[in-house]
Amino acid sequence: IKQENVRNFSIIAHIDHGKSTLADRILEKTKALTQRQMKEQFLDAMDLERERGITIKLNAVQLNYKHKNEEDYLFHLIDTPGHVDFTYEVSRSLAACEGAVLIVDAAQGIEAQTLANVYLALDNDLELIPVINKIDLPNADPDRVAQELEDVIGIDKDEVILASAKDDIGVDEIMERVVSDIPSPSGKMENPLKGLIFDSMYDPYRGVITYICVKEGSVKVGDKIRLMANDKEFEVNEIGVFRPNPVPQDELTVGEVGFLTASIKNVSDTRVGDTITLAKNPAETPLPGYKRLNPMVFCGLFPVDSNQYNDLREALERLELNDSSLQYDAESSQALGFGFRCGFLGLLHMEIIQERIEREFNISLITTAPSVIYEVEKTDGETVEVDNPSTMPDTQLVQEVREPFVKATVMVPNDYVGPVMEIAQKKRGQFVDMQYLDEVRVNVVYHIPLSEIVYDFFDKLKSKTKGYASFDYDLIGYHASKLVKMDILLNGDTIDALSFIVHRDFAYERGKNIVDKLKDLIPRQQFEVPVQAAIGNKIIARSTIKALKKNVLSKLYGGDVTRKRKLLEKQKEGKKRMKMVGSVEVPQEAFMAVLEMN
Ligand code: GTP
Repeated sequence: IKQENVRNFSIIAHIDHGKSTLADRILEKTKALTQRQMKEQFLDAMDLERERGITIKLNAVQLNYKHKNEEDYLFHLIDTPGHVDFTYEVSRSLAACEGAVLIVDAAQGIEAQTLANVYLALDNDLELIPVINKIDLPNADPDRVAQELEDVIGIDKDEVILASAKDDIGVDEIMERVVSDIPSPSGKMENPLKGLIFDSMYDPYRGVITYICVKEGSVKVGDKIRLMANDKEFEVNEIGVFRPNPVPQDELTVGEVGFLTASIKNVSDTRVGDTITLAKNPAETPLPGYKRLNPMVFCGLFPVDSNQYNDLREALERLELNDSSLQYDAESSQALGFGFRCGFLGLLHMEIIQERIEREFNISLITTAPSVIYEVEKTDGETVEVDNPSTMPDTQLVQEVREPFVKATVMVPNDYVGPVMEIAQKKRGQFVDMQYLDEVRVNVVYHIPLSEIVYDFFDKLKSKTKGYASFDYDLIGYHASKLVKMDILLNGDTIDALSFIVHRDFAYERGKNIVDKLKDLIPRQQFEVPVQAAIGNKIIARSTIKALKKNVLSKLYGGDVTRKRKLLEKQKEGKKRMKMVGSVEVPQEAFMAVLEMN
C-alpha cells in the first residue's frame, strides 16, 4: 500500500466516554478481532501465555480499510494510556500519529481529561476529528456539547460527528473522515531511519519488545540499530505488526507502526520518546520531544515480616524489568527496619506497584506516606534534594526550601465552585483563572503544591462535589515555601517513618490533628504512651494513649459471644499489619495518618 494511503491515528477521550467501545467497532468493521475477542482468546491461552511469559499489549493495531471510492487504506490505530500520571507516554503515543478522533460523551460534555488530551494533540499538530458519542442516551444533549466544543476548543460545530459506538451510529463516517481529514505520514523512504519508540515491554524469552512508529527511512531484520539517547547498539532479530495478533515482517517502512526485538535486556535502554536509527547510516538529529521521565512521588516500602526483605528486593527487580520509571534504593529506618525508598510517576503508579507486590508476590507491606522531592538550600550554600522527610537537614541548617508546584485544572458544575475553591485554598492553592464552559459548567485553575495533591486532594474533591468534578494537573516548577519538618515521638522516641514536611502556617493545626489521630489509631498497650509532635526540639502538640485496662473485653462486651469473637477477629486481622516500633505496636494506618491531616 502506498504511503499516501496510510493513516496513523489515536482515539482520545475522558475516561468512560467510549474510547474502547469505538475502537472495538472499528476493529470489527475492518474485520480484525475486537478487543473483547482478543481478551477471550488470551484468557483461553492464559496458562500458556503465563508459562512463556508472553503478554501482548493491544496498543498499536494495523488495519485494512476499503474506502467507498474502492481505494485500499492502511490504518494504524494507536492506543494511549488513560491517566494523568502517564501524560508523557500519552504525548509520545500521539507523536506517532497525524490525527486523533476526539470523543466526548453526549451527556457529560467536555471533562478535564478531554481538554488535557486535546492540548497534547495540538502540541503534536494533530488533525482532530470531533465526535459526540452516546447520542442514544436519553439524557444526551448533543447540541449543548457541540456548542461547548466550539466555545472551548474552537471546533466548528458543523464538523462534529454525532455517534453511538454502542448502536453503530456514525462509525462509518468516522472512518471516512480518518481518510479525508488526517494527512498521510510525511517522512521519506530514502532518509536515514528515525523510529519513534512509544512503548516497550519485557519478554523473558525475546528480551525487550519495542513499539515503534517509523517516521523516516526503514528498518529490516538483521539491521544494526542505535538508540540515540544512550548510543547503545543492537541487532534486530524480529520485526512485526499487530493485526491485532503479532504478524512477523521482514521490514517496517516509513509510516508503519509495529514492533521489533533485538536481544535488549533492559526496558530502561528503550526509553519512551527516544529515536531508533541505523548504526551504519545514522540520522543526524533525533526526533523532537524526548524527555527522561523522573519519578515525582516517593515512599518507603517495608516488609511487615522482616524475613521477606529479600523477597521484596526480588519483586522490585522483576517489576523494574517492565517499568523504566520505577525507581528504588535500599533504605533503613530505625522504626521499620530494612526496606526500600521507591520513586513513582504519580499516586496511581504508586498504588499499582504496591498492589502488585502484595498480590503477585505475596508480600505484606508497610508503606510510609508519599512525599515529593524538595530542594533544600542550606546555610552553607549547598543545595540538596530531599525525597524522604526523615533526611531533611535540621532547621537551623536550612536557608530555603523549594517545593514542586502544579497547575491544577478542575471542571465542575457551578453549584460546586464554592467547595472546590475552599479545598484549593486549604491546600495552599493560588487562584489563577476561572472560565464558564457553558451556563452551568466551570473550569477552575489553581497553582497548588504537588505535595498537597499527592495527599488526599482528589478524594476530597470527589466527595465535596458528589463525584462531578474532573481533574488534571501539570508540573510547573519549583517555588520557595515556608516548610518545616515535623517529627512524631512515641513514648519519647522520634519515629523516623512518621516524620513529614509541613507549611509553617499549618504546623500547629496539623501537629494537633495528627497526635489525636494517632492516639485513636494506635491500640492501647500495657502502659501509657505519650504521642508528641515536634519541630526541632520544640514539642508543639501532645496526646496520650491510655494504658490497657485488664479484662477490657469482658467488661465491654459482657456475655455477647459473637460480638466478642468479632472483636477478637478484628484484632487478629489488624495484627497482620502491625509493626513493633521500639516498645509500641503500630498499625499500618498510622503511617498513612498524615495523609488525612489536611
Ligand atoms: P476507559 O477504558 O475507562 O478509558 O473508558 P473508555 O473511554 O474506553 O470507555 P468504554 O468504551 O469502556 O465505555 C464506557 C461505558 O460507556 C461502557 O459501559 C460502554 O458500554 C458505554 N458506551 C460506550 N459507547 C456508548 C454509546 O454509544 N452509547 C451508550 N449508551 N453507551 C456507550
